[in-house]
Amino acid sequence: MKRTIILGIESSCDDTSAAVIADGVLLSNVTATQAIHESYGGVVPELASRAHQQNIIPVVHAALTQANVTKEELSAIAFTRGPGLMGSLLVGTSFAKAFAMALNIPLIDVNHLQAHVLAHFIKEQGVEPHLPQFPFLCLLVSGGNSQIIQVDKFDSMKVIGQTIDDAAGEAFDKCAKVMGLPYPGGPYVDKFAKEGNPKAFQFNKPHIQGYDYSFSGLKTSFLYTLRDAIKENPNFVEENKNDLCASLQATIIDILMVKLQKAAHDLKITQIALAGGVSANSGLRQAFVDYGKRNKWEVYIPKFAFTTDNAAMVAITGYYKYLENDFCSISLPPYARVTL
Ligand code: KG4
Repeated sequence: MKRTIILGIESSCDDTSAAVIADGVLLSNVTATQAIHESYGGVVPELASRAHQQNIIPVVHAALTQANVTKEELSAIAFTRGPGLMGSLLVGTSFAKAFAMALNIPLIDVNHLQAHVLAHFIKEQGVEPHLPQFPFLCLLVSGGNSQIIQVDKFDSMKVIGQTIDDAAGEAFDKCAKVMGLPYPGGPYVDKFAKEGNPKAFQFNKPHIQGYDYSFSGLKTSFLYTLRDAIKENPNFVEENKNDLCASLQATIIDILMVKLQKAAHDLKITQIALAGGVSANSGLRQAFVDYGKRNKWEVYIPKFAFTTDNAAMVAITGYYKYLENDFCSISLPPYARVTL
């Protein structure tokens, strides 16, 4: 029987990625990251789109080669339509359109946020699948989002809570910057936190109604703690780095998990998944396991390769849309801002 083979393309921010999925099973997932932004302390949109231009063809070529699939065997091409940086999105979108047109195969637009959630449905050769059952809750935490999403079906998701200011990843990155750590700071905080005491410092936690989040108060409280302490001791950050990171991380995790637990309890949902770049955080992953045991949840924690931006999640979303004949027109523009 003919296989359904989807090429996924992701270029929403600073990772150029291509992946091939055949009948729901991942055959390749190739990503070119852009180190150029490190020296600027953040992603520079113009540099990102130029790097995507350089990377896109070699990355797609490598994904097809690794998958041992020819372009003529592809059933459809799925691409990230948004949200993301417009210049970056345009590269992946234009490439996907041109390739689909040249091959005369369907084109599938993918919402980047939906793709993060559906990353849990990627099957891998030789790996026993552990797939969430509907309905499930997904905590999506990244540099741009902090949301609790109720997932009823592949194509039916609703945001039941979200940040009203900064995202959790921004809280990690901005506080890390205050400590003089490189960008993005999240992974550094994670590393130093392993050696620190999470109870050493107390930072403000928000009091927000419902399932929404807020991280701007924590950021300010962190900044003021450091500012006051440095006045007394200029070496305060260096001498307390591990404890500062451990306390910051514990506060962010507590904020995230308390609301998630409330949502799960109120909605009586016990299938709970984690997604997005911040889901690489070792403390958050452990908190999922601990809360899972305590609340009798079945938890779904993504593989590290599927936490940050990747095309495998775009390809799997494309696969499920393909099964529904959910294709898009060649004239569809990318969206910098779009919700679920
Ligand atoms: O989903 P993602 O790759 O893209 C954006 O939304 O931009 O997420 C990136 C975010 C950054 O804020 C980064 O600091 C954070 O994920 N991150 C982490 C860790 N690894 C990545 N935050 C905390 N601990 C980590 N280990």
